[in-house]
Amino acid sequence: MENKDIKRYTVTTALPYANGPVHIGHLAGVYVPADIYVRYLRANHRDVAFIGGSDEHGVPITIKARKEGLSPQNIVDRYHNIIKKSFEDFGISFDIYSRTSSETHHKTASEFFKKLYDEDKFIVKTNEQYYDADNKMFLADRYITGTCPHCGFEKAYGDQCESCGTSLSATDLINPKSAVSGNVPVMKETKHWYLPLDKYEPWLKEWIIDGHKNDWRPNVYGQCKSWIDSGLHPRAVTRDLDWGVKVPIEDAEGKVLYVWFDAPIGYISATKELTPDWEKYWKSKDTKLVHFIGKDNIVFHCIIFPTMLKAEGSYILPDNVPSNEFLNLEGDKISTSRNWAVWLHEYLEEFPDKQDVLRYVLTANAPETKDNDFTWKDFQTRNNSELVAILGNFVNRALVLTKKYFDGHIPLRGELTDFDKTTLEEIKTFPLRISSALETYHFREGLRELMNLARLGNKYLADTEPWKVWKTDPKRVETILNISLQIVANLSILGNPFLPFSMDKLRKMINFDIIDWNKSGDLDLLEEGHKLNKPSLLFDQIDDKAIENQINKLMETKKANILSEAKAKPAKPNIEFDDFAKMDIRTGTILEAEKVTKTKKLLKFLIDTGIDKRTVVSGIAEYYKPEELIGKQVSIIVNLAPKKLRGIESRGMILMAEDADGKLVFVAPVSDVKNGSEVK
Ligand code: 2FM
Ligand code: ZN
Repeated sequence: MENKDIKRYTVTTALPYANGPVHIGHLAGVYVPADIYVRYLRANHRDVAFIGGSDEHGVPITIKARKEGLSPQNIVDRYHNIIKKSFEDFGISFDIYSRTSSETHHKTASEFFKKLYDEDKFIVKTNEQYYDADNKMFLADRYITGTCPHCGFEKAYGDQCESCGTSLSATDLINPKSAVSGNVPVMKETKHWYLPLDKYEPWLKEWIIDGHKNDWRPNVYGQCKSWIDSGLHPRAVTRDLDWGVKVPIEDAEGKVLYVWFDAPIGYISATKELTPDWEKYWKSKDTKLVHFIGKDNIVFHCIIFPTMLKAEGSYILPDNVPSNEFLNLEGDKISTSRNWAVWLHEYLEEFPDKQDVLRYVLTANAPETKDNDFTWKDFQTRNNSELVAILGNFVNRALVLTKKYFDGHIPLRGELTDFDKTTLEEIKTFPLRISSALETYHFREGLRELMNLARLGNKYLADTEPWKVWKTDPKRVETILNISLQIVANLSILGNPFLPFSMDKLRKMINFDIIDWNKSGDLDLLEEGHKLNKPSLLFDQIDDKAIENQINKLMETKKANILSEAKAKPAKPNIEFDDFAKMDIRTGTILEAEKVTKTKKLLKFLIDTGIDKRTVVSGIAEYYKPEELIGKQVSIIVNLAPKKLRGIESRGMILMAEDADGKLVFVAPVSDVKNGSEVK
């Protein structure tokens, strides 16, 4: 559909599970791009419903509740509020942020199911499923774990392997176990309702494979095509669980809707809560529906939910489903369970007024076409060398010079040079350059163009050098600063979707309140004589210390993870006691220590073993300074055959163990014992 035929937009963002806080991966993948898009649409006077909310059903939540000995409602109440606040804090400008435990949602999801049921759109099947006999429960989705048949990952779930991303059925798992008790499950019969995706295959082929080849992102289109090409099968939309939307029909005691059936209906429920006029956002052909999601949600939003909508019959279908790839953190996959993440609420504790810096970095480095990596060094560089040095620097120079020469009043634009004229012509091209990128969901590109406008401003100032010209030709400086300030005003409009906090600040500084996109490209946004307010810095440098702190925090996490995940090597074959008794291990004290010259690793010790004083060479110079080891007690094998190392005869070996970082630490008595005590 051409844009001119579109009267309104329904923009949804994946509903995060309310079983933990949100991190930079969420922000980068879904919420920042969606917010940029929506702010851009609003600036263009488009009618938009921007919908978000928490996904409060599903097994991840009940598992967390069990672990903490709380009710699922307690868990979702806690995290719904934390998540909602994080989004508000980062300026994600939802029209509504709702939740799927709401009454409206239960009613909406029930009615949706009931309508499909009444119209015979489901098939019903009875089959055997895994059951935990001790806990008397069916083991749906994540209640069952086992080895992934595709990649061998030992902790794959009954619905998906998080290691290789494959979507699984519980019966695919090798060595299945109950996630509740660890028991081997038994099989038990149960009845469920299925959405017959196979019947919709011809329609899906036409709608996606033929219809969206060119406008959906290649990653989205590719995943859908490969799903459809490998053949669609009926998909169960009910589960034997007690947390969720009850299946609203007779003969379904103890069953709820599958979380992936109810959650996307949550977008509709939230719109109902937003406005009594909700139907126009969901049922009107001149509404454009756009789902922002992460790549693990593609199938649900492009195949399953559209099939539900199609089967129901009265809804529109998504026009686009912009989905990002994953954002990694310092080279590793972001993981909630391993605490390998930058949590949004923690980021704000460290950088309370730097929401836009994170929005900027996550957009400039967005995983739009491939997985990308967030590193704290890159965060610092992008702040210092781009936000501060390009955008902030240009704005600051233009405002400070205007304050200095014209007491903060916009000077007159007088006679124009050729360079002025080409600069003014170029400014006019930016609104379209940025719009074209945003209309087609190329947010990195849009941001790059915004920064190019700031670069243009910097270049204009550098080439015209008003600070030099002032002495000889103040009239010329009037024109130069007038042009520079028109660039600043344009930046404040065009930058607003990306950097709402800073552009708010900038608008205050230039005493200007327009965010209307149609006004951008105008070269007289600030009229002659208009008074600016006091300038201040838009962005500050981030110093090495702040970055080191963040890196250290992650290193601590890594260490803790290695310690808890480290698998000890398997034991060596048994030996007889006599073999052990052959080793003579004693306690001793280091009397002297020095580096072995021309080596990196070796330290030479003189050790009092209680039997004698002997020389021992040990490869631990990377970890210890010799002087700090003098007086230290150690355990030493004294009857190991002597060995020459770099010409020094080493008589014995000091016992060491490797810590999580690979550092060797001393295995020594924990309280003082006399030298020469046998270790046995
Ligand atoms: O992957 C997830 O976090 C899901 N809770 C997303 C649901 S999106 C929508 F369908 F609600
Ligand atoms: Zn796998």
